[in-house]
Amino acid sequence: MPVSRREFVAGLAATPLLTSVPSATQAATTAISADRFDPWLEIDAAALRKNVAVVSGLAGKRPILAVIKNNAYGLGLTTVASVLDPMPQIKGFAVVKAEAAIALRDAGIRKPVLLMGLFSDRDGEELLRRDVQLSICTDDSASRIVRAAKKAGQPAAAHIYLDTGMSRMGIPYFRALPVLRKLRGLEINIEGTFTGFTEESDFDREQLGRFIEITDAARASGIELGSLHAASSHAVFNYADSHLDQVRPGIALFGAYPSDFESERSIATLTPAMRLKARVVRVEQLRAGDSVSYGRNYIAEKSTWIATIPVGHTDGMPREAVNGAHVVVNGSAYPVIGAVSASHTIIEVGDEPSVNIGDVATLLGPDHPAIHPNQLAASTGTSVYDALMHLNPTLPKVLV
Ligand SMILES: Cc1ncc(COP(=O)(O)O)c(C=O)c1O
Repeated sequence: MPVSRREFVAGLAATPLLTSVPSATQAATTAISADRFDPWLEIDAAALRKNVAVVSGLAGKRPILAVIKNNAYGLGLTTVASVLDPMPQIKGFAVVKAEAAIALRDAGIRKPVLLMGLFSDRDGEELLRRDVQLSICTDDSASRIVRAAKKAGQPAAAHIYLDTGMSRMGIPYFRALPVLRKLRGLEINIEGTFTGFTEESDFDREQLGRFIEITDAARASGIELGSLHAASSHAVFNYADSHLDQVRPGIALFGAYPSDFESERSIATLTPAMRLKARVVRVEQLRAGDSVSYGRNYIAEKSTWIATIPVGHTDGMPREAVNGAHVVVNGSAYPVIGAVSASHTIIEVGDEPSVNIGDVATLLGPDHPAIHPNQLAASTGTSVYDALMHLNPTLPKVLV
């Protein structure tokens, strides 16, 4: 069964963590050598574009503020941004970390970039110099933005971040009006006002009601709010009333369904825009009674062939893959057996040695239902957000 983000949080203690250092600015290469065994990640530009078109259709052609936080959900920040930037449906980009916003500008991304997070005074100045839009997310954000803009010698643009019930970031809606009134006359160009949903249907409705009430009241007081936005992928699929002036999806752009895989794919077809690949490094025959990997949780009942793929949990293959994940080699899906180790995954290929050393193995991607990211998440009992965001940022990216 798919696991929602919320359900998954409850089981977080079991979540494997990345051990490597993110490299947000890592550029995509154009080719992988034919004799490479180490894993790589293919980013499918056509699939990204198709998903943008699908999301745009679902959102009634409203502009898309593309959320590409956390290394574009594992696909590579600048790789993804370079594909989306020229698309007319994409109004701009939203990230959570200052470093990501700066990396986008350094990579030549020119569309608006919104930092949906708090900024230090030093970062605020640097971000404004690079024409990054900041969030008014605390009581003193606006005065700090004005100060930073003066120091940077740049005009400031910002979005107001309202907390309507998530209690994570933003100014709580019930005491926001006096804070918003102080914005009048400040030299900040307010480009937008936004909130985020908890993704629990009944409460989302309540949150939207709170958002509309406060934004109506603010506008009635002459406060400029810019474009209103609230809908992440879940709401793009499931809550049309929340699409407002623009939508703010992340995961759907990358081709994964946000919540309920079965019902959402009946609404629209997304195409996973990534392929996690490596080449088979070992093919051997087990005898009856032979065991596989740490802990020996697989013992062969009869003679069978196995193959080793040099991709492990450090690369982003969930440790829980042994619970039902598959790997595709030459068009066939083979079950993962034994424990996934840091750098290796082992598959059972059956009675015949039907794969060879050097064959390309795909662990995640659109080409077989067994390795669709939502299926990987479902069969490993993790969240699809984790299945993507735990892809190791140092995996080489190839734009295809
Ligand atoms: C504030 C905010 N808006 C939008 C999104 C996009 O969400 P999703 O990837 O579910 O579309 C996120 C990501 O979690 C977010 O934190």
